[in-house]
Amino acid sequence: MRSLSHLNKYLYKYRVRLLSGLLFVSLSAWLKTYSVEYISESIDWVGKNMSQSAGFMPAALGHIVKLAILFFGITLISGFFLFLTRQTIIVTSRLIEYDLKNEVFEHYQKLDLAFYKRNNTGDLMNRISEDVSQVRNYVGPAIMYTTNTITIVAFTLIYMVKINLIYTLYVFSPLPILYFSVYYISNLINNRSTVVKQQLSVLFSKAQESFSGIRIIKSYMLEKTLVHDFEKECIEYKKKNMFLVNADALFQPFLMFLIGISMVLIIFVGGRQMLIGRVTSGEVLAFVIYVNNLIMPVASVGWITSLVQRAAASQTRINEFLQTEPTIKSEDEHPIEVSGELEFDKVSFIYPDTGIQALSDVSFKVGTQESLGIVGRTGSGKSTVAQLICRLYDTTSGVVWVDGKNIRHIPLSSLRSKVGYVPQEVFLFSDTIAANISFSTDGEGAELRKKVEQSAKDAAIYDNIIEFTDGFDTYVGERGVTLSGGQKQRVSIARAMLKAPAILVMDDCLSAVDTNTEQEILYNLQRYMQGRTTIIISHRVSSVKMCDKILLLEKGSVAEYGTHEQLIAANSHYKEMYEMQMTEELQGEKA
Ligand SMILES: Nc1ncnc2c1ncn2[C@@H]1O[C@H](COP(=O)(O)OP(=O)(O)OP(=O)(O)O)[C@@H](O)[C@H]1O
Ligand SMILES: [Mg+2]
Repeated sequence: MRSLSHLNKYLYKYRVRLLSGLLFVSLSAWLKTYSVEYISESIDWVGKNMSQSAGFMPAALGHIVKLAILFFGITLISGFFLFLTRQTIIVTSRLIEYDLKNEVFEHYQKLDLAFYKRNNTGDLMNRISEDVSQVRNYVGPAIMYTTNTITIVAFTLIYMVKINLIYTLYVFSPLPILYFSVYYISNLINNRSTVVKQQLSVLFSKAQESFSGIRIIKSYMLEKTLVHDFEKECIEYKKKNMFLVNADALFQPFLMFLIGISMVLIIFVGGRQMLIGRVTSGEVLAFVIYVNNLIMPVASVGWITSLVQRAAASQTRINEFLQTEPTIKSEDEHPIEVSGELEFDKVSFIYPDTGIQALSDVSFKVGTQESLGIVGRTGSGKSTVAQLICRLYDTTSGVVWVDGKNIRHIPLSSLRSKVGYVPQEVFLFSDTIAANISFSTDGEGAELRKKVEQSAKDAAIYDNIIEFTDGFDTYVGERGVTLSGGQKQRVSIARAMLKAPAILVMDDCLSAVDTNTEQEILYNLQRYMQGRTTIIISHRVSSVKMCDKILLLEKGSVAEYGTHEQLIAANSHYKEMYEMQMTEELQGEKA
């Protein structure tokens, strides 16, 4: 339960709304109870005067009409208060839900890549959607129904004891049983519905996976197997749902049974008390109404107890994420200029989750406005270097210096606003091409559009884009499914170019384009590279040839380092690679 104290700051924030809500609940409960006393007195009045004067009938009728109007009025006002209660407390719970969702999402954005490696997307989604909704039940319905129950029980008790203490004790005795049994059944229902929801999410992810992998499924003819698999999960889902329905079906009849027993008790005990003249018939009627008023609130508390327990469990899960501190953060957020000098000083890096040593003792230096090409076989650590430059991870040992400052002491926002990173795996948002290129750049309208077009030209994608019917306003579909691999890569390059960064890092982003397009991009890049530090990572020597310095990585270590000419002259591995790739290219051209 302690986990729920995280919400206190929000309860405090909305205290005025909440407190007025509590006042409205209490007023509504009091009116409901008060009206009963009025009914019972009137019944007794009618009973007493029945056998007296002849002019009784019109008087009684008048009395009853007055009673009806008053009762109607009170019910109306009580209902109005109930409306106000929902407008205050339930609205508060929605506001808190909104705040909490934003808090969690904002925190997600701060967390580092290692966190995302540890936790799967489903779990992240669950905590921000399902768990937050569970918590809303605590701040909304739980607070509202609990206050309602407390006030109704308190007021009713006062009125009942005023009539007759012994009678009250008898009538109250089944209520604890009602509370505990409703609590028990609610728990049963909740547990079973959790199981149903889990199965539903299994079903969802199965379906989702089959949609995203549809190309593989069709080409390997896996349709039948998948349909069979899905059907199996569906049967499981049905079974679990039936189990839930059983518990659900128990709820209403059981409640009715308990209500029935209470009524029998009231009439039985009331009748006996009436016979010995301790209570009047109006008072017995009052008891019937009182207990009717009490049953739903008392039952709701049983249901609420189970809700609060679930909310607490959900909040514990949310807190677990909220209390996770990002390991990558800046001590000082005061913005500074980054001009782009870059140095790796004996950098080693071990991936925290797998323990794989990706880099060992890597050193190199790139001056402002210089360029560095990094080549190496697959798995040699090239992408790791790129990620360390963006500070997506911190080094295990050694230091990355930027402009002579330790990268850890540069505010993240200053660093990342100056680094243009083209990742190896392209990611496009399901938006237009223009929006995908320009999302990190300020500005709007025609001026921005001109810049977008220029960077599209630099990335050699302009001609492709204008061939689409909607041009730059073409929607790329989820993750860019409507573009080819090479087109996606070039949109991603245009995005980084538009940012006009001080440091441009291109991670193997020419792998999916043909040699001619590669040359075109590289040609444009040479002009673009003036005035910024550029890191080009590639498998192909042709992509890095024109860089000021070239680094060959082997199994995470620097194997060779120098200019293209130096490395070619030195009879190096680099030279071997170069010659092999040149021959392949020539053969390709001949063929
Ligand atoms: N996120 C990660 N978590 C754990 N280990 C990783 C991760 N990314 C890479 N590695 C490991 O680190 C090593 C270096 O990987 P890296 O991605 O830097 O290679 P690369 O040179 O970019 O390869 P490629 O040319 O195939 O892109 C590999 O052994 C890889 O298995
Ligand atoms: Mg890589």
